[in-house]
Amino acid sequence: MRKPMIAGNWKMYKTTQEAMNLVNTIKAGVHAISDCDIVVCPPFTALSNVSHLLNGSGIYLGAQNMHFEREGAFTGEISPVMIKDLGCRYVILGHSERRQYFGETDELINKKVKAALAYSLIPIVCVGETLAERESGSAKETVRKQFEGTFKDLTSDQFEKFVIAYEPVWAIGTGKTASPEQAQEMHEFIRDLISKRTNKDISSKIRILYGGSVKPENISGIMAQPDVDGGLVGGACLKGESFIQIIQGTSPVKTK
Ligand code: 13P
Repeated sequence: MRKPMIAGNWKMYKTTQEAMNLVNTIKAGVHAISDCDIVVCPPFTALSNVSHLLNGSGIYLGAQNMHFEREGAFTGEISPVMIKDLGCRYVILGHSERRQYFGETDELINKKVKAALAYSLIPIVCVGETLAERESGSAKETVRKQFEGTFKDLTSDQFEKFVIAYEPVWAIGTGKTASPEQAQEMHEFIRDLISKRTNKDISSKIRILYGGSVKPENISGIMAQPDVDGGLVGGACLKGESFIQIIQGTSPVKTK
């Protein structure tokens, strides 16, 4: 049984005060919603303040990245223990912007995924192809390689704890959304990969989110697809009103 989930990836936006204002707006707008899991992932600098505001709200906190070591001489890095300490339950790993601008490889992301599980954080693991890969017909091959690399050596039990996000790079921040059919085709493919690695029972429990220009106008079409369980939202989560509308847009879809 898969309950819908909407996660907001705030990326490198919002000062502490702006973050607090946004989260207060979100809280006020969603307090009556219980049929969708809501996650907010502010920048590291706002995690502590946002965490306090979320106390008792039922909204979950997530980080956008982390190092895989518990602690050490890694200037500028943040560890799993540190984000856990601030109240994070989720952590986004392997976002395409981390892969593209910070050189993150499947091997590194695999270490982070294992570390997240070791510290009882739930990884939201991102996969997705570039425009060139889609146009050359290798989108599925790219996603399969990312899947195998990032989930290397993981057991079936560990798989049950993940959330996976399919984010086609060509749809991120571009206003171009994958059509509901394109999203469904890849989500089904990913669920099949999970099923082959584990079993049908486990694959039917894992939530696969779609990310890439999700907006209030397109969420219900995407959510109507049988293998789409929610959204990982960038730009449209930076305004309380549109984030709330996206969450409301999942409500015709109950648990899948
Ligand atoms: P946009 O919603 O701005 O396209 O960003 C998607 C994303 O990268 C979420 O992680």
